[in-house]
Amino acid sequence: MFITLEGPEGSGKSHQISGLADFVRERGYEVLTTREPGGTAIGDQVRQVIMNMKNTEMDPRTEVLLFCSARAQLVDQVIRPALSRNVVVLSDRYGDSTLAYQGYGHGLDLEALRLILGFATGGLKPDLTLLLDVDVVEGLRRRRQSGGEWNRLDAYEVQFHQRVRNGYHELAGSEPERWRVIDANASPEMVQSNIRQVVGQRLVPIK
Ligand code: TMP
Repeated sequence: MFITLEGPEGSGKSHQISGLADFVRERGYEVLTTREPGGTAIGDQVRQVIMNMKNTEMDPRTEVLLFCSARAQLVDQVIRPALSRNVVVLSDRYGDSTLAYQGYGHGLDLEALRLILGFATGGLKPDLTLLLDVDVVEGLRRRRQSGGEWNRLDAYEVQFHQRVRNGYHELAGSEPERWRVIDANASPEMVQSNIRQVVGQRLVPIK
């Protein structure tokens, strides 16, 4: 089973995914977590280029192709082999981030992006996608406060992040059987509990 977590900045995906991994493991499954961009030796190098605050002149199309190059490597080297061993794969971001950020955020053509995504992933789609939905200003505030990496993409204006969030809602609305929206403005404990409830319904206990 392939589960992805998506959301705007500061939605708490990275924190929530480790709790979710524990939960899935307790249900008897082998679990693999991945993070985009990155998750492979090549992908981590691509991540450095994308996030580098000095790369201010980067064209959004360059951004797309870099994200998708890291993703192609991750799918081929990590995700598909794990799925073929019945491992539950939990990914912190996947193709929907490209549609939300480069498509809705930067205004690139969504159909072109879907073609590129299909090529990069060989058509691999998640079975379940959780949208950790957080208010944009609150999310950016959390990012700054956490003292973690503040990257080139965080630095885009608030309106950009608002378009990203709205885009996520459109994507979720257009494929309701794949998406579940989780209110990430709630406390981390409440968010984790809601995530576990959704995922628990999809997992058959095997132990
Ligand atoms: P994160 O590691 O905090 O989730 O940051 C990843 C950043 O990269 C975040 O700003 C979203 C952005 N991103 C895209 O713009 N497009 C993509 O396809 C992916 C995977 C990430």
